[in-house]
Amino acid sequence: MDISVIGVGYVGLITGACFAELGNRVVCVDVIKEKVDKINRGESPIHEIGLEELLEKHIGKNLKATTDLESAVLESDITFICVGTPEAPDGGIDLKHVKSASKEIGRALAKKKNYHVVVDKSTVVPGTTDSVILPIIERESKKRAGRDFGVAMNPEFLREGLAVEDFMRPDRVVIGSMDKRSGDKVEELYKSFDCPILRTDLRTAEMIKYAANAFLATKISFINEIANICEKVGTDVVDVARGIGLDSRISPRFLNAGVGYGGSCFPKDVKAIYRMGEKEGYKAELLMAVMEINKRQVLHALEVLKEKLGGVGGKKVAVIGLAFKPGTDDVREAPSIKIIRELLKDGAVVSACDPAAIENTRKILGDRISYSSSLEECLDGTEAAVIVTEWPEYIVEPEVFRKKMNGNVVIDGRRILDPVKAKSAGLDYFGIGYGK
Ligand SMILES: NC(=O)c1ccc[n+]([C@@H]2O[C@H](COP(=O)([O-])OP(=O)(O)OC[C@H]3O[C@@H](n4cnc5c(N)ncnc54)[C@H](O)[C@@H]3O)[C@@H](O)[C@H]2O)c1
Repeated sequence: MDISVIGVGYVGLITGACFAELGNRVVCVDVIKEKVDKINRGESPIHEIGLEELLEKHIGKNLKATTDLESAVLESDITFICVGTPEAPDGGIDLKHVKSASKEIGRALAKKKNYHVVVDKSTVVPGTTDSVILPIIERESKKRAGRDFGVAMNPEFLREGLAVEDFMRPDRVVIGSMDKRSGDKVEELYKSFDCPILRTDLRTAEMIKYAANAFLATKISFINEIANICEKVGTDVVDVARGIGLDSRISPRFLNAGVGYGGSCFPKDVKAIYRMGEKEGYKAELLMAVMEINKRQVLHALEVLKEKLGGVGGKKVAVIGLAFKPGTDDVREAPSIKIIRELLKDGAVVSACDPAAIENTRKILGDRISYSSSLEECLDGTEAAVIVTEWPEYIVEPEVFRKKMNGNVVIDGRRILDPVKAKSAGLDYFGIGYGK
């Protein structure tokens, strides 16, 4: 099929490259020319396992990028909207990119004779596709939805860091559509997938995405709540999580206690669906608690650090890991940024390390901290370390910390060190949820 993808961020570029890998002809569109040029050179603007290989394989053959949205839409049968849906100042969803993309798609469709399907893949609150996207396209194209073009909603569930794998081998594909014809066209793209394909209406598809993210965020805040109790009652949350995770009704995934969730999705999506409920007259108290607990977790780690150091002013502190999770260079809403900001506010001297996210962190924090990709270099001469991202290269024997640091305080915000070994190596160790 001929596909156009609007927005080549984490979701759009993966969608474009993977649809190309599945044998389609794909044109990716973005407003940022540097990104487009980079992609056309076969270079990935983001860090994702397997993505660069897909670009090298398909660019110049059945995959290209452009800033010209109109010709991309005219060249294709189906258009995926993959633009960002950031948080609005009131905590709701900011639809400015979705609206402007819909407007341009509508204008392009005004010049098109054949039937076309527009699929929203951006995460949008229930009602957006049928009451915002569809009317804008009708207005701009002067065409009728259902007759001249179709509209569908195909939420994306990929995890950053494993995005190519998740796109190619998902647990399920959800397709919401205004009518059968539009949904069938989208389903055709996934026909080789060996997973359940759920067909539904537009609003249900939109709601499924929020419910999935809200549930996963709830699991994280739940285990963090349990972790905090474990610290008080002399147990280890890692053992507790294992004990409950073996119950197939619970599952072990998303039960890692730590400094909380971050990233470009969970924080904004939980907030957006909470605000949506509120707007409709419903107060989602569980979701409010999920957000509050998440906020508290970062502060909890910092409080312990300050207590152990007797204040952080003038102290050298290493922050281990910047990306909001391993495998990505994304630092949006990353706990690391919150921790570093607090440390700097209190006068600490911060060094930080990360294998992929230094460039993106520098855009936010500039040179107020020192950066290194090496753990050892980052720890060198510091009085304390806070482990924030569980990159595999940072899962080391506690002696590495002891040897390189001047002091011995280690706050393990991801529980990657063995607490017993850490203590016997002479570290003043604190692990989230470790109360033994
Ligand atoms: N990142 C994830 O892991 C993930 C997973 C599932 C769903 N989502 C959702 O997918 C959507 C995209 O997320 P992302 O992380 O890829 O965002 P992103 O910010 O990384 O990328 C969005 C891209 O869209 C481009 N853009 C904005 N307006 C445009 C326009 N009018 N025309 C062309 N390009 C335009 C931007 O320049 C940017 O490159 C969001 O709704 C997000 O919530 C994200």
